[in-house]
Amino acid sequence: MQDKVRVAVDGPGGAGKSTAAKIIAKKLGVDYVDTGAMYRAVAYKMKENNIAVSDESLLIKMLSETDIDFSEGDVVLDGRIVSEHIRTPEMSKLASDCSALFAVREKLVALQREMGRKKSIVMDGRDIGTNVLPDAEFKFFLTAKADERARRRHRELAEKGIETPFEEVLKEMVERDANDATRKLNPLKKADDAIEVDTTDMTIEEVSEYLISVIKGGGDGNGKTI
Ligand code: DC
Repeated sequence: MQDKVRVAVDGPGGAGKSTAAKIIAKKLGVDYVDTGAMYRAVAYKMKENNIAVSDESLLIKMLSETDIDFSEGDVVLDGRIVSEHIRTPEMSKLASDCSALFAVREKLVALQREMGRKKSIVMDGRDIGTNVLPDAEFKFFLTAKADERARRRHRELAEKGIETPFEEVLKEMVERDANDATRKLNPLKKADDAIEVDTTDMTIEEVSEYLISVIKGGGDGNGKTI
């Protein structure tokens, strides 16, 4: 394998990105970075401090005093593990809203680029292949029909004891995708050189096996061999 392999996994919510990215990072023996969790951590801190998306100066000050890292799969915000608090529908919406702000993207993209600068990594998000790691060795763009993505999200929430009507999950998901895909800064978009995978009728094992086969085969992923 090459010295450094960076894998970008982008796509809308519920397409299977994080689960697949986690599995392939483990199989490759490299770190996994969930960039969505970083936007969610910022959203969580904004809520805790009562800072609105429109409070630009307060937000900039807050960001200058914010540290986000990962430890054994957990998101660490200013030294506290916040993984439990950031996966609610409220945080999904606020993360999407705050991710459109320049100050937020500037800070998080710099952190993400630094994480991918020195070592092999699997990173998932919305703009990894287009903006964070445009020279990643492998780029994937996972999609799935909105109904199926909402079904997956609905199941995930139910497993956490969050009971939300399916129709509401579907509506919020479609709205969030539109929000993420139409913002001015680094919108959700397939990189020209990314491989698109429709996961609607695939199991997570099939998705991760396919991604691994491309990476190990080295054939399609930007034509590189590892
Ligand atoms: O992947 P997720 O659902 O946890 O992401 C939460 C929000 O964060 C998503 O709606 C948009 C934003 N996000 C982003 O703008 N860029 C990324 N690289 C990752 C997430």
